[in-house]
Amino acid sequence: MAEVGEIICGLDVGTTKVAAIIGEVTENGIEVLGVGTSPSEGLRQGVVVNIEATTGSIAAAVAEAEQMAAADVQSVYVGIAGGHVQGFNSYGQVSMRSREVEDLDVARVIEQAKAVNIPLDRQILHTIPLEYIIDGQGQIRDPIGMNGVRMEVKAHVLTASLTSVQNIVKCCNRAGLEVVEVVLEPLASSQAVLHADERDLGVAIIDIGGGTTDLSVCSEGSNVFTSVIVMGGHRITQDVAHGLRTSVAEAEAIKRKHGCSLISMIEGDDVIEVPGVGPRPPREFKRRFLAEIIEPRVEEILLMAQQELLASGCAELAASGLVLTGGASQMEGMVEIAEDIFQMPVRQGVPTSIPGGERQGVVSLAEGGFASMVSDPKFATGVGLVLYGATHEPMADAAETAPRKRSAREDGPGTFRRITDWVRDIF
Ligand SMILES: Nc1ncnc2c1ncn2[C@@H]1O[C@H](COP(=O)(O)OP(=O)(O)OP(=O)(O)O)[C@@H](O)[C@H]1O
Ligand SMILES: [Mg+2]
Repeated sequence: MAEVGEIICGLDVGTTKVAAIIGEVTENGIEVLGVGTSPSEGLRQGVVVNIEATTGSIAAAVAEAEQMAAADVQSVYVGIAGGHVQGFNSYGQVSMRSREVEDLDVARVIEQAKAVNIPLDRQILHTIPLEYIIDGQGQIRDPIGMNGVRMEVKAHVLTASLTSVQNIVKCCNRAGLEVVEVVLEPLASSQAVLHADERDLGVAIIDIGGGTTDLSVCSEGSNVFTSVIVMGGHRITQDVAHGLRTSVAEAEAIKRKHGCSLISMIEGDDVIEVPGVGPRPPREFKRRFLAEIIEPRVEEILLMAQQELLASGCAELAASGLVLTGGASQMEGMVEIAEDIFQMPVRQGVPTSIPGGERQGVVSLAEGGFASMVSDPKFATGVGLVLYGATHEPMADAAETAPRKRSAREDGPGTFRRITDWVRDIF
């Protein structure tokens, strides 16, 4: 847990925008000191495809947040998403060194759970303990101090493509920033918008961004499942551009202003004016026609998320329902269509001060200050990264990214060799 007075920067490198959020740890939670955003040009479907453009977006967003906070940011918790993210459940067991469980025993059993065969081109980012078992007695969440001889752990291991991680770290380094830890975006978003009792009872969260839709399930306070679907709000905009025969920029504006994801919610015959492409004159369309373009795509995205959820076997754990967040969740009708598809209670989640979070060690935003500036679903990941930084010690997995915290010019075969050496070390 971070100390009061510590300043943490969360950097959400999204497909649509880069958001930098600077927060200070206070006794009442995280006080937002600065927020900076910059359009993101160098990502496709959550993955960096242009180092230079992404570096520029990161530098601009961080500079804006630094100016607002009157603070100098040296290091960041950066988010990562994309179709390359994979999760699996693992298991570890150790004999205890003494009769009582100590920190070192927990670290050893987690190391055991991580000692699985993963391909050389992948990296473990997080190992989340789901349950400890001591001498056959399961359901233990905090084993420190308990007596026993043998300890087992069931854990959820999340991996990402090594090159995707390297590229995002490289962009940060080129922008003059060290990376404390690379954090999966679904984990961050869930930290920012879920209430403590939802995390406890079980909840699913879907963050619909521009290029990706992140899905995660929390139960008994832990993330038990995570997945990334490479489709989001951009695809809806492209459909609108094709359907209305207008430019992508106009389609984006029309979608945000008039879009609705459930045809049956459209009442009356409202008409919208759509500028033509090039010299063509503007035309008029019914708003209902716009909803007819949007609904099938939103339905497809949510059905893909539902399929992932069912295939994971975690659907039943989401007893308290579903929370939607991310920029694209703001469209009218999103909550209603999600309720139709998932047949569970759905609400929209924005980063706010979360009551009761401290009971489960969940740090949330402090009330007041600039908290209202980030009270927007598009900031779920950025705020979540700050909260993650405040609650987690940089993990061994992330600490191993240290060789990459160097200037990009120094990066070369040597760096790559050290990283692959480390990956081999965990076998
Ligand atoms: N009012 C709105 N109505 C509908 N869609 C919206 C609205 N506001 C934003 N969006 C959509 O939200 C998407 C961007 O969301 P967000 O900022 O969460 O994405 P991102 O984090 O940059 O991308 P990703 O997480 O996919 O990498 C865009 O597709 C945008 O069109
Ligand atoms: Mg995002």
